[in-house]
Amino acid sequence: MRRRVTDPRRFGRVAVLMGGWSAERQVSLWSGEAVLGALIKRNVEAVGVDATRDNILGLRAAGFERAFVILHGGAGEDGTVQAALELQGLPYTGSGVAGSAVKMNKVTAKRVWLAEKLPTAPFAELRSEADAKAAARKFGYPFVIKPAAEGSSVGVTIVRKPAQVAGAFKLARGDGRAVMGEKFIKGAEMTVPVLDDEALPSIRIVPAGEFYDYHAKYIAEDTQYHCPSGVPAAQEKKLRALALQAFRLVGASGWGRVDFIVDKAGKPWLLELNTVPGMTSHSLVPMAAKAAGMSFDELCWAILETSLGEADAR
Ligand SMILES: Nc1ncnc2c1ncn2[C@@H]1O[C@H](COP(=O)(O)OP(=O)(O)O)[C@@H](O)[C@H]1O
Ligand SMILES: [Mg+2]
Repeated sequence: MRRRVTDPRRFGRVAVLMGGWSAERQVSLWSGEAVLGALIKRNVEAVGVDATRDNILGLRAAGFERAFVILHGGAGEDGTVQAALELQGLPYTGSGVAGSAVKMNKVTAKRVWLAEKLPTAPFAELRSEADAKAAARKFGYPFVIKPAAEGSSVGVTIVRKPAQVAGAFKLARGDGRAVMGEKFIKGAEMTVPVLDDEALPSIRIVPAGEFYDYHAKYIAEDTQYHCPSGVPAAQEKKLRALALQAFRLVGASGWGRVDFIVDKAGKPWLLELNTVPGMTSHSLVPMAAKAAGMSFDELCWAILETSLGEADAR
């Protein structure tokens, strides 16, 4: 990984945007505190900012020169915050407005991947309970009902029998979210982080419970993570190439994480792309970075560098 900046002053005053008002607020605060600590340790003039609808538009006026976006889900990951930063002419880390918006809706991202024949499970948009029942007939059991634009496994159900359909739809719907149904892919959960147009080592996730739900992600101590993932070298190469391709196709940039399920036959199915993945000390991107020889602090620095334009690259 090529480092472009050595003097922390080159970044100027950096707002580490965390918290926010999405369902993933708490996770973002955890990530944000970890990132802030790392940047400060490296003498970057970084300040934590709990993002609100009001303060997000006043960052330039408040003296900030750059933003490290570590807001998960909602406005921080769907292009809204990115647009607010663009309006102020503030450079920021990670994906821009368009890439964020395309990937935020899983249905849209899957359509882009399918257009280029990338492997992703068959799906359907569910506008009503009747649609959900139709999806059950189409995909059979088990199948998945989930919000199209949520994160952290919020509202996701593996539907195993007809009696669960209505409840799963209602849970995914919440107060009006877009909902999708998806064929259930049985296999190993794998993820590949992307940093500065390179894929990092893959990680294999083994949740102790039924699937990789909120509890397995943030609370359980018995979720297993393997990195290096232990897949054969050829498979590793294939996964990394696919991750990079999926990342570029939706127009994502800077950094992110591409999630897959790899079936018994070894075929990887794209699940989703995260443009602002978790950055707590227990998160997956730091784990892969470590396997690639990069400390958490170095990783935060490298992500901050993704906010530099080509003109800054000297
Ligand atoms: N089609 C599917 N087949 C098998 N498991 C799935 C499928 N969709 C989701 N899951 C399970 O649910 C978890 C969360 O789903 P995901 O689409 O990644 O939503 P989120 O954005 O909330 O993480 C996945 O990590 C996986 O364990
Ligand atoms: Mg996921």
